Amino acid sequence: MKRIVILISGRGSNMQAIVQAAKIEQWPAEIVAVISNRNDAAGLEYASSMGIPTSVVVSKNFPTREAFDAVLQATIDSYSPDLVVLAGFMRILSASFVQHYTNRIMNIHPSLLPSFVGMATHKQALDAGVKLHGITVHFVTPELDHGPIIDQVAVKVLATDTEESLAQRLLIQEHIAYPRAVRWFIEGKLKIEGNRVDVDTD
Ligand code: GAR
Repeated sequence: MKRIVILISGRGSNMQAIVQAAKIEQWPAEIVAVISNRNDAAGLEYASSMGIPTSVVVSKNFPTREAFDAVLQATIDSYSPDLVVLAGFMRILSASFVQHYTNRIMNIHPSLLPSFVGMATHKQALDAGVKLHGITVHFVTPELDHGPIIDQVAVKVLATDTEESLAQRLLIQEHIAYPRAVRWFIEGKLKIEGNRVDVDTD
């Protein structure tokens, strides 16, 4: 059984989608912990209700990013994960933290990277007037919202779209793409070569 730790900061709907897929599809994997950097992350309650151990490392209690990351890393490592999944984890991570999990930490970002890194991606897309927007699942590297891309899904931007309507439509795609990508990892189907990820889906 592969061991997965999921990090959240809020609602945790992607985490829920992964937990559900693992259960329904009977992955050879276990979600061994859900860890949040905020006490009030709504997703913690769901994880507990599913019998998944939870931990909170309150980021705002730490004087520096490095101090927080060190405790977060120790907390994650106490669960001996094969994979760390960032699911709406709203913290920039230090290079040494990311390097500790090289090729075994992934993230979902609500844009078609490399466009629109950082926050407010739907506003960025609307301001840029793009006709396609989307989501990206990628391995995490020290550079924010970069790293080998595992999967992307595009959606058409409609003339009537707002940040909220785009977010809603993209979230549906996130809940399909993220569990699928995690499953590919668990099944050993992802081969990373430089910046490219080959998915062996046969
Ligand atoms: C998701 O839309 C995810 O793509 C985004 O936050 C949301 C979290 O929702 N992540 C980022 O913006 C990371 N930079 P969730 O807590 O319901 O999964």
